[in-house]
Amino acid sequence: MGFSGTGKIWMNGTLVEWQDAKIHIASHVIHYGSGVFEGARCYETPKGSAVLGLQAHLKRLLASAKIYRMDPPYDLAQLTTAVLETIRANGFKACYIRPLVYRGYGALGVNPFTCPVDVAIFVWPWGAYLGPEALERGVSVCVSSWNRMAPNTLPSLAKCCGNYANSQLIRVEADLAGYDEGIALDASGYVSEGSGENIFVVRDGILLTPPLSASILPGITRTIVIAIAKELGYPVREEMIPREMLYLADELFFTGTAAEVTPIRSVDKIEVGTGRRGPMTTAIQGRFLQMVSGEIPDEHGWLTYL
Ligand SMILES: Cc1ncc(COP(=O)(O)O)c(C=O)c1O
Repeated sequence: MGFSGTGKIWMNGTLVEWQDAKIHIASHVIHYGSGVFEGARCYETPKGSAVLGLQAHLKRLLASAKIYRMDPPYDLAQLTTAVLETIRANGFKACYIRPLVYRGYGALGVNPFTCPVDVAIFVWPWGAYLGPEALERGVSVCVSSWNRMAPNTLPSLAKCCGNYANSQLIRVEADLAGYDEGIALDASGYVSEGSGENIFVVRDGILLTPPLSASILPGITRTIVIAIAKELGYPVREEMIPREMLYLADELFFTGTAAEVTPIRSVDKIEVGTGRRGPMTTAIQGRFLQMVSGEIPDEHGWLTYL
């Protein structure tokens, strides 16, 4: 989805015009992927706009920075204020939020310590990530020929810009083959996740999802969905999932800030269950969308109101 090219962007503590939010071509992040980032969403509710999982997202941002030994000059409280300030300054009722901590302009050796750690936050309206019909009809996906990063290569617990080179390979391959999205296996051949989503499998009334050790990003939506599923009385298990389980699943769905809860209707052209959004997916998706839109109480305090 394109940008409107207008609005204000928070850069190192100052709100600047969209067209002035520039960095130098010699910035370390451009060459070596040395940035960590977040993607969060602000929803419109009857009580006002609210950001879903803001604290969890910003904690994950700081955790990603810690793994890469980046020391952002802003703490959790300051980043929280900055995100809320940026949304207010742009006047959006609902939007996608992108905080980014990156190695800026200093020198171009691989060693990043010579470069400053800069921070930017920008927001823009972003609709359904996998298309407007995806939330109901589901998406058609393939198992990617690209694996997720092996353990002890690029850390999957860090949401690092560099990791998205892997995600791009997965997504581009799926796109060129006519699929909506790709699912990557981990280095051992177990199911990991989509290029930008976690994955859940329903089989015989049990909800399964790969554990953190399957090279996944620890998704905030994943955590929320696990809690919702348990509240709805569904048994949830985090365990290694063999590829063929995708073909035998009664239901499959993706979760993510962008994708929310998106059903998967086929994998490698094999229909999932009946090929329609299944009952457990419908119940969990419904509860998730009701919670973020303020239709039911947010008992966990997942929403931070503006
Ligand atoms: C690779 C990857 N996995 C999973 C997710 C889902 O994470 P979250 O629910 O925190 O958005 C994302 C989205 O950011 C992602 O990029």
